[in-house]
Amino acid sequence: MKKILSVFAICITMAMILSLEGCSAAPEKKEEPTVAAEQTYAERLQSCKKQIEAITDFKPDAVLVLGTGLGDFADTLDVKKKIAYKDIDGWPVSTAPNHAGNLIFAEYNGLKLAVMQGRVHYYEGYSMQEVVLPMRVLHLLGAKTAIITNAVGSMNPEFKVGEFVCLNDQITSFVPSPLVGKNDEDLGERFIGMTDVFDKDMQNTVLNIGKNKGIPVHSGVFVQVSGPQFETPAEIKMYRSLGADTVGMSTGAEVIAARHMGMKVCVINAVSNMAAGMEEDGFSQDSIEDNMDTVSDSFKTLINGLLDDLSE
Ligand code: HPA
Repeated sequence: MKKILSVFAICITMAMILSLEGCSAAPEKKEEPTVAAEQTYAERLQSCKKQIEAITDFKPDAVLVLGTGLGDFADTLDVKKKIAYKDIDGWPVSTAPNHAGNLIFAEYNGLKLAVMQGRVHYYEGYSMQEVVLPMRVLHLLGAKTAIITNAVGSMNPEFKVGEFVCLNDQITSFVPSPLVGKNDEDLGERFIGMTDVFDKDMQNTVLNIGKNKGIPVHSGVFVQVSGPQFETPAEIKMYRSLGADTVGMSTGAEVIAARHMGMKVCVINAVSNMAAGMEEDGFSQDSIEDNMDTVSDSFKTLINGLLDDLSE
């Protein structure tokens, strides 16, 4: 009996030691989920570039961004390849009305164009880095010039609906910069000057085409806002007092990224409405789109003239 009791005691003691060891042992290591490493921005640019190169060997000289209601211009070109944005993994896809979402490679008098039929906006929830990703990829493919168009509200009483504004400067202080974050020295420098943003030769060309063809083209300053709400009359008064002539929800960031990479830039605004509070009759997204339909012929003339000049 004594023997049984002592064996029993030994068993209990060992069990206690084992359970104590169990308490002090390191917690069981959990298997790490195997998530693919997050792609860096530079890798995303390279991936988009490679996907395009796998589809076509077209090397663009220039980028042409077609804004709200201006996308039809692409149909007038000698199209070599059309790629839907959604077919390029990593390329931001437009959800905005009237932004078709195609990357079109086309030729105009031998000038090789990458035409963006529609763009993405900050207000769609994309970061500014994503907004400018297409411009960056197209530059990596070879483009050294950017022609950017958009529909804008005018806060200059002299700049009327249906007229155009070729930018001589811009204000982007109200939206984040696409250059925030680690700088990629392969793309451009950390600190870039923004004194001569818009190419003087292209500005003169566009202004001259306007004069020669009887199309009203002004020279002016644009302010980019985030949207998606349109401005209040008080905001428009503020932007006007700061020196802006036109307002829109795109373009400024694309211009910054293009300049960061050393591209030559020209922006043509099409005035789709007088800005909030400028006229008794207000405006709406529908009236903006209707007005843009009426400018398409003069827009084509302006862009063709600029492309003629660039292709010489
Ligand atoms: N405000 C902001 N964006 C615009 C406008 C406007 O009045 N018109 C076209 N895009």
